Amino acid sequence: MSASDAKFIIEGKEYLFPTLEGSEGEKAIDTRKLRAETGYITYDEGYGNTGSCSSDISFIDGEQGILRHRGYSIEDLAEKSNYIEVAHLLIYGELPTKDQLQQFAERILLGALLPERMRHLFDGFPAASHPMALLSALINSLGCYYPHLSSNNRDEELENFDEAAALLISKVRTIAAMIYRMKHRLPMIYPRRDMGYIQNFLHMLFSEPYYEHFAHDDVCKALNLMLLLHADHEQNCSTSTVRMVASGGANLFASISAGISALWGPLHGGANMAVIDMLKTIHASGDDGSKFVEDAKSGKAKLMGFGHRVYKNYDPRAKIIKEASNKMLDSLGIQDDPLLDIARHLEEQALNDDYFVERKLYPNVDFYSGIILQALNIPTDMFTVMFAMGRISGWIANWKEVAEKEKGRIYRPRQVYTGPQLREFVAIDKR
Ligand code: ACO
Repeated sequence: MSASDAKFIIEGKEYLFPTLEGSEGEKAIDTRKLRAETGYITYDEGYGNTGSCSSDISFIDGEQGILRHRGYSIEDLAEKSNYIEVAHLLIYGELPTKDQLQQFAERILLGALLPERMRHLFDGFPAASHPMALLSALINSLGCYYPHLSSNNRDEELENFDEAAALLISKVRTIAAMIYRMKHRLPMIYPRRDMGYIQNFLHMLFSEPYYEHFAHDDVCKALNLMLLLHADHEQNCSTSTVRMVASGGANLFASISAGISALWGPLHGGANMAVIDMLKTIHASGDDGSKFVEDAKSGKAKLMGFGHRVYKNYDPRAKIIKEASNKMLDSLGIQDDPLLDIARHLEEQALNDDYFVERKLYPNVDFYSGIILQALNIPTDMFTVMFAMGRISGWIANWKEVAEKEKGRIYRPRQVYTGPQLREFVAIDKR
């Protein structure tokens, strides 16, 4: 027995289980042999107390509002880095040298075009399709054009991983822009070789055959920050999904397509879109937000963009994005927007209300990212797609971690079955 072992007493019998400690002092009881030794499993619906893996990528201390990627604080990265550099850091574990960054950025730049035949896929979808449904379908389809990157043969995929990672980061942006163009029945705009990652995205989104759109530097900076802040976030719903799918041996494209579907939900990435829908509903009803806050307290509504499973103090990404959004709104001269007024009022009310204070409910990153994207004229139904564009680098990093793990096991949780016990089958004419 070691002093740090955990002692379980089950039906009067004692069992010892080893404990683990992460590099930032996070403690865990290693219950991997629990069922074999005791016949019991742990029950933790929503996985709030379950470590599904060990990971070297991101660290969160929700009590203290800390987020770090590969040991670097999100504040430092937001101030001194950019999205592409952070993507490299997440995926390869280290900040790139100048040469590495140039090579990575060049691969991304040169990978922007979609296979020409893939363009025809867009024609098959109805314009009313949700962009997240399209994104998930098209990212999975993308793998079909690159069989050597999506063979479900791990050795081959790891050998070609650098190509696949850069290709996905590059093409998710082209696909995102094309989804918007298709939905609005606009002609497709091809990427340019002389534009940076975000400038190129906005060009594909807003240029016309007779007009070249050059986004303002401040707009590119704001979007760059938004992607950077969304790049990874430990074992959230979509990242866990990517890891789950990857653990079965599925390729990077299939795993990320599943992650996109997980992100779509309004409790997760879909919240940034839901925030704007909520603000519009409040505005249309003539409320300044006060009635909505009361409805949220009585369970009749949910304050979208508030609350977080892990952050119980504040969301450090929200703090950064709030400051940036204030500056950006100032520089764009937007101060009297009615939705913004409602958002500010909601925030002030909630932060001073016992219901929200007692439950440690603070604005999360999606509260402000919705506001930023709205101010930048990004169409509301593209908000969650923008989130996916940022998070794809974290998903790729997590896929790689699973794929490279020696003796990695398929993710396969247990359950507590609560359905009927064994029953005798009765033929249909006797029921
Ligand atoms: N508005 C009102 N009440 C809330 C909210 C909210 N946004 N969030 C939680 N609560 C209440 C719950 O009703 C519950 O109250 P109770 O104790 O009286 O039953 C209590 O706070 C605890 O909430 P849980 O649902 O247990 O919190 P959980 O950790 O399961 O959920 C979540 C976290 C999903 C983020 C939740 O706070 C929520 O739905 N927020 C709104 C959606 C949102 O903004 N999602 C984005 C999250 S960040 C991201 O994915 C990038």
